[in-house]
Amino acid sequence: MTDNKKYQPEMRGNKRVICHISDITETGKGLSIKKIVKGDPDRSLDLLLVTDGDEVQGYFNICPHQGSPLDLKPDVFLDLEKKYIQCSTHGAKFRKHDGLCISGPCVGSKLMKIPLNLDSDGSILLGE
Ligand code: FES
Repeated sequence: MTDNKKYQPEMRGNKRVICHISDITETGKGLSIKKIVKGDPDRSLDLLLVTDGDEVQGYFNICPHQGSPLDLKPDVFLDLEKKYIQCSTHGAKFRKHDGLCISGPCVGSKLMKIPLNLDSDGSILLGE
């Protein structure tokens, strides 16, 4: 939706619905969450979501190596084997469950994790 004044995010309690698990492709999903900061409707957060078994993991879409987005092609966040999150700029690989970099130019650093909850209907909620 492009009209910020009319857009109202769906909430469940104090958690915001950001998408449905069926929206996540086999190589992940990128999201730009708007209206996240009260009083600053133009501020957005760029996130990535990947499935990890029965769980969903979410991180800020920022590579710890040089601060670039991890996906050069939209929604392509995983390596060919779909085992690791991979930065498409220099190829760093990160574990899905904790974001730890296990190969590439920033080994030992981590993606910034975001708290998510998977609701019983498959909705993904942002928050602890
Ligand atoms: S910017 Fe991601 S590995 Fe270099």
